[in-house]
Amino acid sequence: MRESRQTQRILGEFLTRRTPATYTLLREKAEVVGSSQNFSKYLIDAISKQKRLFLEWDGYNFQEPRPAEAIRHDVSDDVLTPFGQKFRDLVKGRTFIDLPCGDPKASGEPRALAEAFGATRYIGVDKAVQPQIQTARIGEEQIPEFYINEDILTFLSQIEGVGKTVVYMSGLEFFQLSEVGRLELEAVLQKESTHRFAKRRLEADTAGAQYREACLAEMARILQPGDALIIGRATHGFNPEKYGFRLDEVVKFPPPSEDTVDHAMYIKE
Ligand SMILES: C[S@@+](CC[C@H](N)C(=O)[O-])C[C@H]1O[C@@H](n2cnc3c(N)ncnc32)[C@H](O)[C@@H]1O
Repeated sequence: MRESRQTQRILGEFLTRRTPATYTLLREKAEVVGSSQNFSKYLIDAISKQKRLFLEWDGYNFQEPRPAEAIRHDVSDDVLTPFGQKFRDLVKGRTFIDLPCGDPKASGEPRALAEAFGATRYIGVDKAVQPQIQTARIGEEQIPEFYINEDILTFLSQIEGVGKTVVYMSGLEFFQLSEVGRLELEAVLQKESTHRFAKRRLEADTAGAQYREACLAEMARILQPGDALIIGRATHGFNPEKYGFRLDEVVKFPPPSEDTVDHAMYIKE
């Protein structure tokens, strides 16, 4: 982990465990598909009845998420969905972990919301993020924000005693064999032998499934009863109910895909 001394000192308080050797292989083989697209912005729609709260802010710009201080006034009880009200209550007084956080400038909504609802600190983890620590000032309070350059599973495996926590995940889509069309296209583009391609893909698919299971096992270890795991958009194949989480609240996609789950909130039992 390439962190500054100050960050290392603070994180060193709870990143104390060793990563199991088996995770190294999963980390290398599990293949995440997708782009640098911002999926976490849809968290706003899940928590607020006002459509695209951020966009309604004067001067909103996609490169610069709205500051928590400004949001706070607009997430009053009457605009929150049932999901939003639970989100607000859960976030207050908890560490908020954003996996993967993406580029802070492009995917800052979870951080801003966590702060607006009174999280004690924000930790964004991404293997492509520039490590940094900064402080958000919310009224009288100072809230530390960390951006950590790390693999998600490695990060989770090192946590011990982080305290009450909410984990939010979005845009973490692993390769799945069901994506036949994409597979075929890639095979043609890469001019790879069918045998080699199929072998590589099967390995990636298996490792992806194992990676997800390992992440859930680590979250079940870290989160305390009453803590929450929130799975947002473009993050499939996770089944927290196998790991002692109860599905508490679901937000469906807007029409025409209203049968599909957009956000799911799980509570640790
Ligand atoms: C589509 S972006 C999603 C970012 C953000 N959550 C959002 O929805 O806006 C996917 C991100 O996952 C990160 N990523 C992929 N695999 C990862 C891993 N194993 N550990 C940490 N970050 C990973 C990539 O670097 C990329 O920034």
